[in-house]
Amino acid sequence: MRKAVLPVAGLGTRFLPATKTIPKEMLPVVDKPAVQYIVEECARAGLDDVLLVTSTGKAAMEDHFDRRLDLEAALADKGKDDDLAAVRELAELVTLHAVRQPVPLGLGHAVLMAAEHVGDESFAVLLGDDIIDPEEAFLERMIAAHERTGRPVVALLEVPWEQVSLYGSATVAPGEVDGEYLITDLIEKPTREEAPSNLCVIGRYVLPGSAFDVLRRTPPGRGDEIQLTDALKIMAHEEPIVGVVVDVPRFDTGDKLGYLQACVELAARREGLGPDLLAWLRGFLAEHGA
Ligand code: UTP
Repeated sequence: MRKAVLPVAGLGTRFLPATKTIPKEMLPVVDKPAVQYIVEECARAGLDDVLLVTSTGKAAMEDHFDRRLDLEAALADKGKDDDLAAVRELAELVTLHAVRQPVPLGLGHAVLMAAEHVGDESFAVLLGDDIIDPEEAFLERMIAAHERTGRPVVALLEVPWEQVSLYGSATVAPGEVDGEYLITDLIEKPTREEAPSNLCVIGRYVLPGSAFDVLRRTPPGRGDEIQLTDALKIMAHEEPIVGVVVDVPRFDTGDKLGYLQACVELAARREGLGPDLLAWLRGFLAEHGA
């Protein structure tokens, strides 16, 4: 498997007004835009062909992974070698392609925009605002599960019951391997009463090329959008699909609280930044009686 598709065409309404002009995937988490963590994750997992599904106002993402010769020259002149290397290596991480989703008709529709580029190969889908701990090889585990079973694979997060209505909830049976389930049904954004479980699909998928045919016959669902969850549900009805449980830290940076958690946790791990941040946080919490 070599190809990854990153749907980054959504409107990002949960993060307005910042996302009026800045794509939510470009919001910095410490010193890197969220989407850079995702592209680095692809590169680590050996997916060196990355397709961004973009839309109006999202051009900054393509620029971020391109060369910027004037900046490189200025950094070289000043002898800022570390900064120069960090800027240059962005263009070498993966081979980046982009396609547009002209109208935001849903995540399933965004993935369908990748059909021509991907062809009939298996591919991964990573949401551009969903950061999974960069120190964990979670995507590699999903790819291994797909190679072992030949089935579509999704990431399943156990969420608090009061949050199931924000996700796609899965009907599950035990899987072949510890930490895996077989999914026989899915429901997008159910009420708490409708939800079959609190195991919910989050932003990582490993799919066979045949997923595009299923997406083409998936009717618009919730919000009149073509939902990837609805296509996965069709696949799960034909043959159970695999869910790999997310047992590592994960941050939804498209949500304000998730974004702040990502900033704090990833900054706390940084050499030269973490100790000072934690010292300040301890004082802050003491001052606020926590
Ligand atoms: P979200 O619902 O999280 O994204 O979609 P959104 O619509 O941008 O954000 P909010 O909810 O209004 O704040 C999940 C992913 O699917 C992409 C988004 O960019 C995000 O990565 N997406 C969604 C598309 O690419 N196209 C769409 O039509 C919808």
